[in-house]
Amino acid sequence: MTLPTRRSFLAGSAAGWLLLSQGPHASPNERARHAVIGCGGQGRAHGHAFANQPRCAVVAVCDVDPARRAEALKDLPSPESVAQHEDYRRIIEDPSIDTVSIATPDHWHTPIALAALQAGKHVYVEKPCCHTLREGALLVEAARQSKGCVQHGTQSRGGQGIRDAIQFLREGRLGRVRMAKAINHQYRAPIGRAPDESPPPGVNYDLWLGPAPQRPFSRNRWHYNWHWHWDYGTGDLGNDGIHQVDVARWGLGVEWPRVVTASGGQLFYNDDHETPDTQVVTFEYSDCFLMYEMRLWTNYPLEGHDNGVIFYGDKGILEIGRHGCEVTWIGQEKKKIGGGADLGEHVRNFLECARTGDTERLYAPIHEGYLSAALCHLGNIATRVAARLEYDPLTQTFKNHPGADRLVSKAYRQGYELPL
Ligand SMILES: NC(=O)c1ccc[n+]([C@@H]2O[C@H](COP(=O)([O-])OP(=O)(O)OC[C@H]3O[C@@H](n4cnc5c(N)ncnc54)[C@H](O)[C@@H]3O)[C@@H](O)[C@H]2O)c1
Repeated sequence: MTLPTRRSFLAGSAAGWLLLSQGPHASPNERARHAVIGCGGQGRAHGHAFANQPRCAVVAVCDVDPARRAEALKDLPSPESVAQHEDYRRIIEDPSIDTVSIATPDHWHTPIALAALQAGKHVYVEKPCCHTLREGALLVEAARQSKGCVQHGTQSRGGQGIRDAIQFLREGRLGRVRMAKAINHQYRAPIGRAPDESPPPGVNYDLWLGPAPQRPFSRNRWHYNWHWHWDYGTGDLGNDGIHQVDVARWGLGVEWPRVVTASGGQLFYNDDHETPDTQVVTFEYSDCFLMYEMRLWTNYPLEGHDNGVIFYGDKGILEIGRHGCEVTWIGQEKKKIGGGADLGEHVRNFLECARTGDTERLYAPIHEGYLSAALCHLGNIATRVAARLEYDPLTQTFKNHPGADRLVSKAYRQGYELPL
């Protein structure tokens, strides 16, 4: 399979941009005709969330694993009218499809999103939107040029309570906030060791691998477990940690850090994991620090949090956890001020923006998604090269560590190169 070349990407995009610039893809459809690409746990959540929206019909599901497609269909209201595809290109080339959501493993997010934008579709892409820093920059540029709506799957931004809490912070109600801590603290069971074997019958393992290096099949690099291998995933920093990093970055109102330092390793796992089970990253800004702490070996809610963000101001602290937002003024009781993430509202917002062609009103526009994904990549790179890093997003190089530059992008398997 060959992804579009740079020339064909730009040529194809022009048609897409024209359609997009006329509104909701110049589509005659009153309801967005939506396709879900990748039908694991999160793809099924997409199917459910999109099918529940009054202005949307899920008309196609796509997965390289037929069992996953069948599972996804069970959740949908009229499964008999939903097309099933093994190859996402059938969706890309179908002009009647208006919007797609991408819930594949991370290494497929950007390639499929680029192809969908080129074809003039609006894209809801799961986090992290990119598998490398370079992919993220390409995706932001493609979205900008195409004028397509690209919503990042960081659905905390869809939660009204969290949006209110961020507003509360921005109004200075905690005083000056000089630090935020993003906590990703949970028990993730070891995966043991699994041999290489033949792929399950009927699955298209070659298409699952896509741009990743050719390797034999292993259950420990397959459904869900791919998260823990650098060729496909981003560890738990890019998996769950990104939600907390995103909220922390949003609340602090910061973009690229001056300096990133990190430590991480496997203090718990002794198995096929490549990615850390314990990780600490500090992102330094000119007037604040964003800290990330990850512990995957206990679900005891240290400091009252499993997954959450704490903003430290000089008048009090704001905690945004899975279950809502709480503020504590110095010397007073903790007070609940809002609820948590909202996938349904995040999807509704995406569809509304796609319908009206209004990219400005997206809760998690792709340039914001890219920044939060970039922090995760920077944290992982700093962990992997064990160095204090200064990154220049304009040149896409490290100012003080050329050795880390090799992790800004990656090699693509022949036939799966990116278009740009
Ligand atoms: N926003 C959230 O809260 C949230 C929650 C969970 C997962 N996610 C994200 O969703 C994505 C999927 O996670 P998951 O847990 O469902 O993983 P999963 O491995 O269970 O599912 C991924 C599915 O994608 C399919 N797939 C792989 N390559 C494909 C291709 N080229 N075309 C079509 N299908 C392909 C796989 O066969 C698999 O069924 C990840 O990026 C993850 O980070 C987001």
